[in-house]
Amino acid sequence: MPTFAFHTYGCQMNVRESEAAARALLDAGHTEAADEASADIVIVNTCSVRGKAEDKAIGKLGLLCASKRERPARIIGLMGCMAQRMGKDIFKKLPLLDFSIGTRCADSVAPAVEAALQGRTTLAMKPLDAQPDAPSGHVCNGNFAAFVTILLGCNRRCTYCIVPDVRGDEWSRPAREILKEVRQLAENGIKEVTLLGQSIMNYGLRTQAFDELDPPSPGGYTLPFPRLLEAVAAIDGIERIRFTSGHPSGVTEELIRLYREEPKLCHHLHLPVQSGSTEVLSRMRRGYTRERYLEAVRKLRQAVPDIAITTDVIVGFPGETEADFEATRSLMAEASFDNAFIFKYSPRPGTVSATWEDDICDAEKARRNQLLLSDQDIRGAQLNQRLIGTTVEVLAEGPSLRNKANWSGRTSSNKIVIFSPPKALQPGERIQLTITKAAPQTLYAE
Ligand code: SAH
Ligand code: SF4
Ligand code: F3S
Repeated sequence: MPTFAFHTYGCQMNVRESEAAARALLDAGHTEAADEASADIVIVNTCSVRGKAEDKAIGKLGLLCASKRERPARIIGLMGCMAQRMGKDIFKKLPLLDFSIGTRCADSVAPAVEAALQGRTTLAMKPLDAQPDAPSGHVCNGNFAAFVTILLGCNRRCTYCIVPDVRGDEWSRPAREILKEVRQLAENGIKEVTLLGQSIMNYGLRTQAFDELDPPSPGGYTLPFPRLLEAVAAIDGIERIRFTSGHPSGVTEELIRLYREEPKLCHHLHLPVQSGSTEVLSRMRRGYTRERYLEAVRKLRQAVPDIAITTDVIVGFPGETEADFEATRSLMAEASFDNAFIFKYSPRPGTVSATWEDDICDAEKARRNQLLLSDQDIRGAQLNQRLIGTTVEVLAEGPSLRNKANWSGRTSSNKIVIFSPPKALQPGERIQLTITKAAPQTLYAE
């Protein structure tokens, strides 16, 4: 049987969908290749969020298709957000491509491989309002952590963002299906699940995700998302729950209560802010002001003092003045983020902001990007320094990549800890460690 490999760009959503497609190929009798170079089937899972992400994928696909000259039986496939965006045009760019599978029909990857083995090409594309295929199969082999997609698509339509155009309407998976999937993961040794959705706190608001078959909530929550967290927490074997991405509108009393009272809910929240200027936020159509965002952060930190908050920021949005940029800088200091991903604005075809002049030049975007990165480095180092001498709980993952004598693991707040393991420690166990040393991105413990 031919061997396969995935090359995955983009967010955790894509990582999850590559995994589910890999599961389907394994079930069809294929095996995973030792590496991409030797693979008979290579599938590139793509991201459209910034122009650069697409350029990289096109370059990669070009090289892979060229490799078919020496290896004509090799199969090259495309899936993910760029596949959806380009539709049938991708075959004009890459005539040797065997298949292209849109974001809402991920179940078509395995059938497309079978068709390609028989010499047929496939273009699978569902409309953006059709019910999407939800990734459900997993490849657990010895892992302790898994992603579970609970919400597909996005309806927020931030003015800069292409995600709603490539992933389509927001759709919540029925809670029944999600809970069944998590129970199966727990049976397969998974201890930590990260629930995924673009605007995840909207879970269940548009579609009837809970029905009479679902367990009633002992906490009496009125919103579906906290109820789902609680139902996942009730599953034996699951020890840690994470989710991404958050939005200030979802930072409710109910969610805060769960952070305080549910020991399985990790003390980490990824809460993308994008900008610290209310004026820019309003043109981004983010649905909150600077004050509202900071209020959510303040409430969280007050109720859960050891919570880590991370964020995404865009610099160089159309019309972003020096004062707007300074507002972002000061917000980041005030929010005291544990980590931040900073992106240079990239106009995306078809979005509202792409009709506005991209007026901040590349050098200025780079300068703003660099400033925020160095601010964050200093802040991250200071926050980590403060953890020296404290005791943290770490889920041991196993030998670290750099030095096999040491192990690595993560705290509830999602910080990486490098430590020398006691003899009896098994991967997947939780251990209490005292932090002895801190670097900006890593903690060390005895
Ligand atoms: N759904 C998530 C974000 C998904 S996209 C949320 O709203 O929280 C991941 C990040 O990419 C965004 O948070 C944003 O910071 C960045 N991004 C999205 N569109 C972009 C664009 N056109 N240019 C630059 N960065 C962008
Ligand atoms: Fe894009 Fe906004 Fe949806 Fe996030 S919430 S995926 S930034 S449209
Ligand atoms: Fe990229 Fe699609 Fe995720 S555009 S960020 S891979 S949803």
